[in-house]
Amino acid sequence: MEHLIRSWDGEYVVVRYDREAEAWMFIAIHSTVLGNASGGSRMQVYDSPTDGLRDAQRLAAGMTYKWAGVDFPQGGGKGVIALSRAIDEKERDRLLERYGQLVESLRGSFSTGADLGVGPELVKVIGRETTHVFGLRGAGDPGPYTALGVFTGMEAVAAELFGTSDLGDRTVLVQGIGNVGVPLCKKLAEAGVRLKIADIDADRAKGVAAELGAEAVEAEAVYAEPCDIFAPCAVGGILNAYTIPQLRCRAIVGSANNQLGEPEDAARLHQRGILYTPDFIINSGGAIALCGMEALGMSDDYVVRKILSIRDTLNSIFEEAKQNGESPLAAAERRARRVLERGPA
Ligand code: PHE
Repeated sequence: MEHLIRSWDGEYVVVRYDREAEAWMFIAIHSTVLGNASGGSRMQVYDSPTDGLRDAQRLAAGMTYKWAGVDFPQGGGKGVIALSRAIDEKERDRLLERYGQLVESLRGSFSTGADLGVGPELVKVIGRETTHVFGLRGAGDPGPYTALGVFTGMEAVAAELFGTSDLGDRTVLVQGIGNVGVPLCKKLAEAGVRLKIADIDADRAKGVAAELGAEAVEAEAVYAEPCDIFAPCAVGGILNAYTIPQLRCRAIVGSANNQLGEPEDAARLHQRGILYTPDFIINSGGAIALCGMEALGMSDDYVVRKILSIRDTLNSIFEEAKQNGESPLAAAERRARRVLERGPA
């Protein structure tokens, strides 16, 4: 842990060991160049607390890029509650309250909200102890907003690759049927997409598939499953040296944060001719809605228009990447760095 914290390119990490639940809390503040840090809080079992810390640091950096990508006056941060074992609901709620107290103690240097393992209902539990939470006033559940951004991004990708933004003739494979996966699958089903879905909870995948007329795919078989667009909407790190050679899709368009195992994976996808939409751009819909409506006073209509403009952002990223013969990730990061170098608008 000492090594991870010392060698990090971010600002600081707040660490608390929760004796009662035998869990670690990490709040990683990556950059406050554009404003006070904010980002979701994630809770899951990790093999070791170090893995949780590493996740917090990487996800916080992702938030810095996400805020810069939409040019909102927010810095990048992320909370991780690293569980060492499964806990029951009562213990979980108490842990989240103590986590809320930790967030409150930072007096607004960090604001948080939903992420993997911390759905909108659990954000309410954190919110019992702190006012520095997004999702309780106005925007509510960010999942459908994130899904809207991913959907519009898929249309942009379809136009780029297949010459029409109509997704009706396409096969889309969604990995992870959670707070974003479900609303995304519903939109895709409405658009007449041939839908394939996978989840680590196989029964859940089968249930949602039956409801939406989709095909359930086994979680382990997901990478080699043929499709036009693969949508990772669960954990990060799933695009790596091991999975990329297996892929049988034309594009990756999903909501998961930190989809690449390592930076080189963007080049690996590029070499395979698979179009990768940078995660911090494509999944920014929830962040836009939460911060836009609850901190910046934007209306729901305005926020929706802003989310739909992800499509134009992606088009200019694809354009810049083509001109420079580089991956879309390289172009997207350069865009975000320009905003960070300029500083708050
Ligand atoms: N965790 C989500 C994301 O990564 C939503 C969120 C954004 C939560 C910003 C809090 C703050 O975009």
